[in-house]
Amino acid sequence: MKGWFQRLSTQNKLASIHNLHDVERLARRKLPRPIFGYIDHVAEDGRTQRANLSAFDEYHFCPKRLLTLRKLICTLSCMANATPCLSVSLPWGSARFRLTRGDLVLARAAAKRNLPMIMSGSSLVPMEEVAKVEGADWFQAYLPGTPEGIEALLARIQRAGFKKLVVTLDYPVPPNPDNLRRSGFSSPLEPSLRLAFDGLMRPGWLCNTFLRTLWKHGMPHFENNHAARGAPVISREAARDFSGRRHFDWGYLDLVRRLWPDTLIVKGVLNPDDAVRAQQAGVDGIILSNHGARQLDCTISPLQVLPEIKRRVSDIPIMIDSGFRRGTDVIKALALGADFVFVGRPFNYAAACAGQAGVEHVADLLQREVERNMALLGLTSLSQLDRTCLYQPTAGEVPQSKNISG
Ligand SMILES: Cc1cc2nc3c(=O)[nH]c(=O)nc-3n(C[C@H](O)[C@H](O)[C@H](O)COP(=O)(O)O)c2cc1C
Repeated sequence: MKGWFQRLSTQNKLASIHNLHDVERLARRKLPRPIFGYIDHVAEDGRTQRANLSAFDEYHFCPKRLLTLRKLICTLSCMANATPCLSVSLPWGSARFRLTRGDLVLARAAAKRNLPMIMSGSSLVPMEEVAKVEGADWFQAYLPGTPEGIEALLARIQRAGFKKLVVTLDYPVPPNPDNLRRSGFSSPLEPSLRLAFDGLMRPGWLCNTFLRTLWKHGMPHFENNHAARGAPVISREAARDFSGRRHFDWGYLDLVRRLWPDTLIVKGVLNPDDAVRAQQAGVDGIILSNHGARQLDCTISPLQVLPEIKRRVSDIPIMIDSGFRRGTDVIKALALGADFVFVGRPFNYAAACAGQAGVEHVADLLQREVERNMALLGLTSLSQLDRTCLYQPTAGEVPQSKNISG
């Protein structure tokens, strides 16, 4: 009876999610304010977030007509390997939705849809558990502050079985917490009347997620920041897990390259000179990102730097995230040369509101948007996407003609 009721409630929720914006609206209603506020957080005055959005507006499509779409089916089957995918699963994210189980929900959904999921180093499920999910082989690390700490963490990640290591470079210090404080979120979470009130206002989340997790799994800890288990999430020491990285320089990336034998990717690159330096360090891929507008306000959008970085760095995949919500956003990035697009918050909202089914639903929605828009553009394969599909009015560019055979 309980299982039937749960399925019905999930189906009702999915029926109300028609695009990636809907899932955010649903999460706003379902999650306690501090928890939603943490995922939704953008730095300071939200100028980076606006830059992320307006960067998409800089490009318009220039569709081709009467090209047969007979072969569109090819696009659909190729797409699983090449288009939207899950981004880093989030530290407190997991706590909010299913508490310690959130990362597993994301990893299973990603496996089901044949999409990569990057597990966050700040997550609350031990990496060894997530690595057991089929296909879960991307791990994101915030490097510990000493060479010994780094060596021990990398050895643990390797033992767990991850093959792709993503090192995040854009978190030398935590961002300004002003907006987080306003929403009632702090790390560590400090018990207060307001926090209790926010929890009581969402009794479903309080009982089904928070209390159930405490009862079944105990207090969640930051499990994966170091070689050993970290601090509990409700504790004054938790803040220490994120400190001690101010002295990092490129020598640390060189060290990681020497220690890590498999695929190495850096995330958070925006400056073209950094992209070149990362390639010289021997990385196998780069993720252009401003951390979803959560770090430095007034930062350039990754989409704006993509063409220049593609021009200066060749031979390795250039991936991108921050603000992608529509199939058209994904197509624009691919047309500008991105090899892969990652999506963050929507998958976490989906996991929070509707578990694995929610994440799969959102992945399907995005994929269908890409397919439909490809057809409307007159294209049958992602390999046909390039600058000639785009018109950039601000640059006064006239689209080039190109022969695309149906
Ligand atoms: C709540 C939250 C927690 C995050 N935690 C991490 C993290 O632990 N490591 C990391 O590299 N990026 C982290 N990110 C950034 C995401 O990986 C990604 O760059 C960003 O969410 C993409 O932007 P989008 O959410 O607009 O799609 C986090 C993002 C959010 C929203």
